[in-house]
Amino acid sequence: MQQVRAVVARAKGEPVTVETINVPDPGPGEAVVKIQACGVCHTDLHYREGGINDEFPFLLGHEAAGVVESVGPEVTGVAPGDFVVLNWRAVCGECRACKRGDLHYCFNTHNATQKMTLEDGTELSPALGIGAFAEKTLVAAGQCTKVDESARPAAVGLLGCGVMAGIGAAINTGAVTRGKSVAVIGCGGVGVAAIAGSALAGASPIIAVDIDEKKLETAKAMGATHTVDSSAVDAVEEIKRICAETYAGAEGADVVIEAVGRPETWKQAFYARDLAGTVVLVGVPTPDMKIPEIPLIDVFGRGGSLKSSWYGDCLPSRDFPMLVDLYQQGRLDLDAFVSEEVGLGDIEAAFEKMHHGEVLRSVVIL
Ligand code: APR
Ligand code: ZN
Ligand code: ZN
Repeated sequence: MQQVRAVVARAKGEPVTVETINVPDPGPGEAVVKIQACGVCHTDLHYREGGINDEFPFLLGHEAAGVVESVGPEVTGVAPGDFVVLNWRAVCGECRACKRGDLHYCFNTHNATQKMTLEDGTELSPALGIGAFAEKTLVAAGQCTKVDESARPAAVGLLGCGVMAGIGAAINTGAVTRGKSVAVIGCGGVGVAAIAGSALAGASPIIAVDIDEKKLETAKAMGATHTVDSSAVDAVEEIKRICAETYAGAEGADVVIEAVGRPETWKQAFYARDLAGTVVLVGVPTPDMKIPEIPLIDVFGRGGSLKSSWYGDCLPSRDFPMLVDLYQQGRLDLDAFVSEEVGLGDIEAAFEKMHHGEVLRSVVIL
C-alpha cells in the first residue's frame, strides 16, 4: 500500500478537496499507474453533483495518461515503465457481446477488484472506474492501453474519454468516410472532436452548428468547412442548403452528429439528414428528456439509421494507438483540445470555466 494526493468529492454539491488516499499494491489482473496528466470532463462534475449515483466519496478524474509503476500477478498485457492512456472499456472477452465479436459493446468491462480508500479506510468510488486526479491510481490492467511513449501526456490522455467519444461518434458509429457530408450540432469538446474525426476521414462538407460564435471559430480551426450559428438562422435549412451546394439533389447531410444531448437538437439532426442518412446521438441527455414528437411516417419514409454512440463505440486497443500515431504524424491536432494546464488544486476553478464554456479541456498536470 502507498499514500498519494488525490481529488475527492466527499458529498453532493460540495467543493472537491485534495486529500491523502491509500492505493493498494496491485493484485491479480491489476496495475498501479503513475499519472502524468488528466483532463477535466463534464462527467467529473456530474459525479460531484450526485448526478451519476450516490456512492460518495468519489475519486474524480478519468481522461488520463501515465506510466505503469507496478503490475500484479497474471498481468501480461502491460509492464512497469509502459506509457499508457487509461480507458474505461477493458473488455472481458467472455460476455455475450464479446463472444459474438462486438467487443466495443462489452457488457462486463473490467475495473480494479481492490478498493482505494481515504486515510481512515473509507472506500472510494473512482470516476468511471479510473480515478486519475491522483498522483497514482489502481486500475484493471486492461484499462491501460500502451501508446507511443514520446507523445505528450496532456494531449493523448484526452483520448481516454471526451475526445475519443467525439472522434468515434464520427468514424466508428457514423462510419464517416470521404465522399460523405457531415453536420455536427454542438461544438464543445465532444463536437469539435467529431469534426476533427470527420476531417481525418476525409468528409466534405463538414458543417459545424452552435449557438456560440466562439465555438464556431474553434470548429473551423479543427476542420469544419462551414459554420452555422443556429441562434440566428434555421440550422436544418442551412445544412440542407450547404449540402445541396456540394452534392446536387442532396436533402441534407449523410451523417448528422448530435453533440449537445437535448431533444430539440436531436430533432434538428433528424430533419437535417439526407434520405437514408444516419443520426448519431453522442450528447448525453438527462433522464427527464423525451424523444421529440415526430410523425412515424417520417422515421419510415426517410430510411437510414438512428444511432447512439457510447464512448465513440471505441475499442481502446485498436483506436488509441492508431490515433496517437496520427497525432504524432501531425494529422490530428490533439494539442488544440488542451486549453490550459492546471494543478490538482485547481479542479473547482476548472469546473467553473467548463461550465461557462470557456475551455475545451483544462488538463491537470502531475
Ligand atoms: N444548439 C446548438 N448548440 C448548442 C445548443 C443548441 N441548442 N445548446 C448548447 N449548444 C452548444 C454549446 O454552445 C456548446 O458549445 O453545445 C456545446 C456543448 O459543449 P460542452 O458543454 O463543452 O460539452 P461537451 O464536453 O462537448 O459534451 C457534449 O456530450 O459527453 C456529453 O455530457 C456531455 O452531453 C454533453 C455532450
Ligand atoms: Zn465482454
Ligand atoms: Zn469524460
